[in-house]
Amino acid sequence: MAEDLDMATGTKTEKYQSLVPQIIGLLEGEPDLIANMANVAAALKEQFQWLWVGFYTVKNNVLVVGPFQGPVACTRIQKGRGVCGSCWQQGTTLIVPDVEKFPGHIACSSLSKSEIVVPVVKDDEVVAVLDADSEAYDSFDDIDKKYLEEIVRLINF
Ligand code: SME
Repeated sequence: MAEDLDMATGTKTEKYQSLVPQIIGLLEGEPDLIANMANVAAALKEQFQWLWVGFYTVKNNVLVVGPFQGPVACTRIQKGRGVCGSCWQQGTTLIVPDVEKFPGHIACSSLSKSEIVVPVVKDDEVVAVLDADSEAYDSFDDIDKKYLEEIVRLINF
């Protein structure tokens, strides 16, 4: 499958409802994890135009940057550090309306103002996180949480 995605306008929910079936199509029949993370990051970036969106995967007990779209990012994040490392430690989605107010936030880009990080859980362990950063404050809410959690579950980690 290598077709253009159909980008929705409308509410955030409508955008996710349009995107999810297309992501299912992108992933269908493709077992390669890096390919799938790359296409999911690209599809999310294209639909939502966030500053940065992508994956960090757990390798030798550290988060290492994986496929992403956006400016260059910190390569390695320790458990408990920043929003990504806290999400890994806590195993729950973290929504940060103002990154400057999150203790220990790792500023990969000074343009980032708000952030959501979703854990990817396999066999009861966090194996990766999906991180999205926005140039606007308060960009992420429970709608993003619901759909991004659904989207990461579509990927066969
Ligand atoms: N801000 C993140 C680091 C990753 S970048 O934003 C891509 C954090 O605090 O974990």
